[in-house]
Amino acid sequence: MPAARTRSAPPAATGSSKKPTATAAKSTPVARKAASAKRVKRAPEAPAQPLVGVVWQGGLGDGRIVLLDQTKLPGELAYRTVTDLDGLRQAILDLVVRGAPAIGIAGAYGLVLHCTPAALKKPGRTAHVIRAAFAKAFDRLVSSRPTAVNLRWALERCREVFDRHEDHLTAIEMCARLLLEAKRIHREDEQLCAKIAEHGAGLLPAGGIYTHCNTGALATGGVGTALGAIVTAYHLGRKITVFAGETRPLLQGARLTALELQRAGVPVTLCTDSMAASLMARGKIQAVIVGADRITANGDTANKIGTYSLAVLAKHHGIPFYVAAPYSTFDLSLATGAAIEIEERNGDEVRRPQGTLFAPADIAVANPAFDVTPAELITAIITERGVIQAPSAANVAKLMTGSATKA
Ligand code: MRU
Repeated sequence: MPAARTRSAPPAATGSSKKPTATAAKSTPVARKAASAKRVKRAPEAPAQPLVGVVWQGGLGDGRIVLLDQTKLPGELAYRTVTDLDGLRQAILDLVVRGAPAIGIAGAYGLVLHCTPAALKKPGRTAHVIRAAFAKAFDRLVSSRPTAVNLRWALERCREVFDRHEDHLTAIEMCARLLLEAKRIHREDEQLCAKIAEHGAGLLPAGGIYTHCNTGALATGGVGTALGAIVTAYHLGRKITVFAGETRPLLQGARLTALELQRAGVPVTLCTDSMAASLMARGKIQAVIVGADRITANGDTANKIGTYSLAVLAKHHGIPFYVAAPYSTFDLSLATGAAIEIEERNGDEVRRPQGTLFAPADIAVANPAFDVTPAELITAIITERGVIQAPSAANVAKLMTGSATKA
C-alpha cells in the first residue's frame, strides 16, 4: 500500500493557506453592490501568494514529499504527504502532481525516497548496494507518464550523478548527493521559469491572450512557463485579458489556470475548448500561448490534447501561436513529433468527469492525453535561452545544442 495521506492544512513551506473560494466570493456582483452601498473604500486587493505544488520536507532519514493535491482544486487546498515510491507513482498517475517540470522535480525526490531506507540498512557500505533500488525506482517512475520528457530528463540527470559517484561514495552519502541533485533540479526550474516568463512577456501583445491546460506555478518549480509569461506581461503593465480554455477532459484550464490567474489578479475569462474558433473569428484573441511536454529536434511539440487544434485555428486567423518551455522539455534525440509516445489514459476520464456519468457506461472512448503540433504552425518557441522564431531543425539547433543550461 502506498504510504500517502491527505491533510487539510497546508504545510508551513507551501503557499498561502487562504481558501481560493474566499477571493472569488468577494468579487460577485452582489458583494460589489453591497460594498459600494456602504461606501466602503477598499485598497486594491494584493495578489495572493502563488500556489506551490511540490515541496521536499525534512532531511534524509525523515524526508517526505508534500504535494498540493491538484485533483481537489479549486474547491479544496489539500496536501498529500508521500513517503515512498508507490505513493509517488500513484500521485503522478492520478495527476495529484502534474505538469511536465513538476513531475520531473517530484520524480527526482522520489529516487531519494526509495533509495534511502535501503542505504540506512547497510551503513558504511558503498553505493553499489543501492544500485538495484535506484534502478527499480527509475523504471517505475519513468514509465508513469511517458510523454512528458522532463520526467525522464530529471531521472537521467540523477542517474548520471549515481554513475559518476558510485565507486567512491557510501550508500548513504549517495542518497545525500541525490537529494542535493533533486534540490538543484527544483531550484533550477524556478530560475528557468523566471527567464522564460521574462522572454515571453516581451512577445505578448496587448489584448486577448488564449491559453490551454495549466502551465503555472502548479505545473513547475517556479512561476510557470506560458502562464508565467502572461502574469509577468500583465504586471509589467500590458493591457491583456486572458481566455482560459477549460481543457477537456480533466479541466486543468478551468480548475487550475483560472484559479492561478484569479489569485494573481490577472483578468481572466473561462471558455469551453469549442469556443476558441468563434473567439478568434470575432477578433477577441491577439495571441495564443501554451506550454509543452516534449519538443523534438525539428520543433514539433507535444502538449495537452487540444493544442494542435488551437494552432490550426490560430494559423487560419493569422494569430501568433507561441510555445513556452525550458531546455529540459527538448528531446533532441527524436527527429520529429511522429516519434513521440502519446500517453493514452483511462476512458472513464471522458465517460465520467469528476465521477458523474456523462455517456453510456460501456461506450468506447478515445483518451489521448496529448497531441503533436507541427513546427510549421508555431510562430516561436520561448525558452530560457531566448526565442526560437519559425522553429525548424536548423533554428532549434542554433539555440539548443551545445552546453547545458545557461540559467
Ligand atoms: O496532463 P498534464 O496536466 O500533466 O498536462 C500538462 C500540460 O500539458 C502542460 O501544458 C505541460 O506539461 C507544460 S507545464 C509547464
